[in-house]
Amino acid sequence: MIKTAIKNQQLLAHKTECLILFCVEEKIPTGRLAELDTKLNGILKLPFINKRFEGKLNQTLLLNVTKPMQADHLLLVGLGEGIAVTTDKLRQAAGIAAQLAEKSKFRIISFDIPANNSSKDLYTRLDKSNDSFSQVVVEGSLLSLYHFDDYKQPTKERPNRVNQITLLTQTKSQASSIRSAVSRGQKLATAVATSRDLISQPSNTATPSYLAKTAKGLAKSLGMSCKVLTTREMKKLRMGSLLGVSKGSEEPPAFIILEHHGGNKSDPPIVIVGKGITFDTGGISLKPPANMDEMKMDMSGGAITIGTLSAAAALKIPLNVVGLIPASENMPSGTAIKPGDILRSMSGKTIEVLNTDAEGRLILADALTYAAKYKPKAVIDLATLTGAVIVALGHQAAAVLGNNDELATCLQQCGEVTGERLWPLPIWPEHEKAVKSDIADLKNIASPGVGAGTITAGAFLKAFVGNFPWCHLDIAGTSWSGEDKPYTPKGASGFGVRLLVRFLEQEAKNG
Ligand code: BES
Ligand code: MN
Ligand code: ZN
Repeated sequence: MIKTAIKNQQLLAHKTECLILFCVEEKIPTGRLAELDTKLNGILKLPFINKRFEGKLNQTLLLNVTKPMQADHLLLVGLGEGIAVTTDKLRQAAGIAAQLAEKSKFRIISFDIPANNSSKDLYTRLDKSNDSFSQVVVEGSLLSLYHFDDYKQPTKERPNRVNQITLLTQTKSQASSIRSAVSRGQKLATAVATSRDLISQPSNTATPSYLAKTAKGLAKSLGMSCKVLTTREMKKLRMGSLLGVSKGSEEPPAFIILEHHGGNKSDPPIVIVGKGITFDTGGISLKPPANMDEMKMDMSGGAITIGTLSAAAALKIPLNVVGLIPASENMPSGTAIKPGDILRSMSGKTIEVLNTDAEGRLILADALTYAAKYKPKAVIDLATLTGAVIVALGHQAAAVLGNNDELATCLQQCGEVTGERLWPLPIWPEHEKAVKSDIADLKNIASPGVGAGTITAGAFLKAFVGNFPWCHLDIAGTSWSGEDKPYTPKGASGFGVRLLVRFLEQEAKNG
């Protein structure tokens, strides 16, 4: 657990192991930092002059300092060009700095928070985003200091982790005005960590029942309601598509329903649906062995849904929000569905299963049908649905598809601010035709040669979407990071939580 604190104190008098200063590119420190520099005999100016440090985005320089400065070290981190600073660049710089501080074995670190008027060009850009400087610094540093070590023996290295982050302000009023921003940053980072933990857990721990148990625990501690439908109840509801997928597994499926009642009773909710395949072997259409281990992350959509609902509850967003997570394993066995089998979904539509590895759309079909019960204001589903989205967009963006351009644009704009990029793909009538079956209503993969795998998957989902605005986010390329990024250590990214929280807050504000 990392503690955060706010302190109103002179830079020189502040005692900490590492004081982090944000610098704009090629600007020799002015104002408060210039004053500090004078007292430190020009050690801040020097690296700018000899170009050892120029303030380029995510560039860092660690300096030893001595009296009269109370801090042990100064860490300069660059934000890049002043007029081009964005919320996400600040988040990255905070993440990079926090991570370097931890690697340098500092446990107590502090960030200098500039006053609202001290860094004009910085603030004109950042203010537009509505996320305050302090929130983003807390968010970026906590996200970057995330570790998943449930399965590691405790080592001597453990104590060498950052355990205290202080935000240093210049005035009393600033110190009190950032209090809620800091707490928001903390709550967001906690929600992302909840999702990352679930995604990182291997499938022998994170079964559908484990997801259900975790959701129930969070509901209890945060004041949400949670109901989990069992196989019997799913049978009663005729969720033949979801049950078809789970048939091959010894693990019972779960249909998790989380509700955050932040709005008026009669307000239609926003419904978030997340794919919860706790392991995807491909089923009888078995996947090749290489990298199959990564398919423990095929419940990412579900994990993001749980994280988002937790954040909505923790932040008390004044809106009704529902999370639906169809959870199942996708296994080959004597009881598994086989290519050519036909399932009857909850909607009544029949589905010819031509490839058992296209299982995500099968479980989502019944969840989207269930979503209509709420007469929702909008439905957003998240799923690690297709490898094709990685071909299209790589790991830099998730695809957004749906039946409502306004909703898609709105989500895309939220992602720009939170650093979770979305990019739109169309669903045209030809794509919808491509998932029509000769002998059933639909088939779960398009005819060979159609291509556009991410789009035809979206077209399949569309057949189960009622008369409400709907978007589908294909997060197969963004949910897991193969490399360390500024505030996303290698592994589960938690992509989607902060974007959705921002969207929900915007909805709560604008109705
Ligand atoms: N879970 C996979 C998609 C996936 C791929 C997620 C890579 C994360 C990384 C999904 O269930 C799947 O297997 N999709 C198939 C669909 C195909 C059979 C039409 C795919 O993308 O190959
Ligand atoms: Mn699959
Ligand atoms: Zn899958």
